[in-house]
Amino acid sequence: MSERNYYASCNRGLEPAVAQELGALGAADIVAGRGGVAFRGDLRTGYLACLWLRSAIRVQEEILEARVRDAVDLYEAVGFVDWDRWLTPDQTLAIYASIRDNPEFRHSGFVALRAKDAIVDQQREKHGKRSSVDTHMPDLPLKLVLKRDKLLLYRDFAGVSLHKRGYRPVQVKSPLNEATAAGLLLLSDWDQASPLVDPMCGSGTFLIEAALMASDFAPGLLRTFPFEFWVDFDEALWNSLLDEARGRVKQSLGFPIAGADRHPGAIAIAGESAYAARVDHLVTFEIADARVWKPATPPAFVVSNPPYGERLDAAEDDPEDAWRALGDFLHGQCSGAEAWLLSGNKSLTRHLRLRTSGRTPVMNGPIECRWLKYELRSKSDGPKSDGPKPDGAE
Ligand SMILES: C[S@@+](CC[C@H](N)C(=O)[O-])C[C@H]1O[C@@H](n2cnc3c(N)ncnc32)[C@H](O)[C@@H]1O
Repeated sequence: MSERNYYASCNRGLEPAVAQELGALGAADIVAGRGGVAFRGDLRTGYLACLWLRSAIRVQEEILEARVRDAVDLYEAVGFVDWDRWLTPDQTLAIYASIRDNPEFRHSGFVALRAKDAIVDQQREKHGKRSSVDTHMPDLPLKLVLKRDKLLLYRDFAGVSLHKRGYRPVQVKSPLNEATAAGLLLLSDWDQASPLVDPMCGSGTFLIEAALMASDFAPGLLRTFPFEFWVDFDEALWNSLLDEARGRVKQSLGFPIAGADRHPGAIAIAGESAYAARVDHLVTFEIADARVWKPATPPAFVVSNPPYGERLDAAEDDPEDAWRALGDFLHGQCSGAEAWLLSGNKSLTRHLRLRTSGRTPVMNGPIECRWLKYELRSKSDGPKSDGPKPDGAE
């Protein structure tokens, strides 16, 4: 099977998680960049990446690299590709273009249009018919990147972003998507074998992703991919990878994964999502305020994404009060545990009355956040008065 160049894109800050996952999948020449990770492998590697990568949002295979100075070069370079290898005239396509540091081309729409013309003109000449454009659900989604005079054209194996696992019953307002939650869990010290809680779990993204991870449930098992309809689709290979993934799923874990949130609506969505993700037997959810919630098993790890004032609507919780409540929970229920919290507002963390022992910058959509680590004192360690000063304390 021939070797190819791939690129897995992700949220900024999660590149080490994606690289770690690709290493476990056996990918070669893994190079983490900004917002993605390049790697090499055969078709099997591409399929495996779509099926198993938890922290990436796209998997793209490079199908053209060229130097282009102007629109004529661009048209010729794209027209030089034998498009029969990648799509038939009966299939639809879409091209998403981005341009960086190239004053010759200012409009990504124009670049995408010229590239599309080169493809369909070739088809018309060879077959007398051409592919139509479908920007909603194309058979062949293409990504064109023009950086200075370097043109890279990729076919997008995922189409719909990989964070859309297929278990969300409705689009929730949660600013944390599934791939980000999984990537953050991978960047934490959680060993996938110790009791884990989220006391402000909202729709349960962290906990569902944790359950999928610990039970070895491939995140791509519940959805379809555009490559299943491509001309070079290797159905036997894909079915064997799906069978192997299904065979790996563990039906039970030797430890609890639990969450709470004070909003009943959020807990209802969390329950439905866990059911759709087929991990409802591995995760428990309760309606409770973090100030009073007592998990059935003392947690070894806490992960959470408390409100940090990112939403402008009136329904937003008071973020200061939420962080104070989280502080109460950590001080009261989490003796000796490790806590990992996503913060998009550093002025709030002082309400925890704890000092961080680690900070990883990560983008959560457009918001620059920190993935903060806290080590909670064990009750047997004695009084807190001699402990470190909390963040933000004078
Ligand atoms: C940013 S959302 C968390 C989103 C979540 N990560 C998800 O996957 O949907 C913050 C959550 O904190 C909850 N919350 C705020 N204050 C709380 C408190 N005192 N006790 C429990 N939950 C609280 C809110 O109801 C909200 O669901």
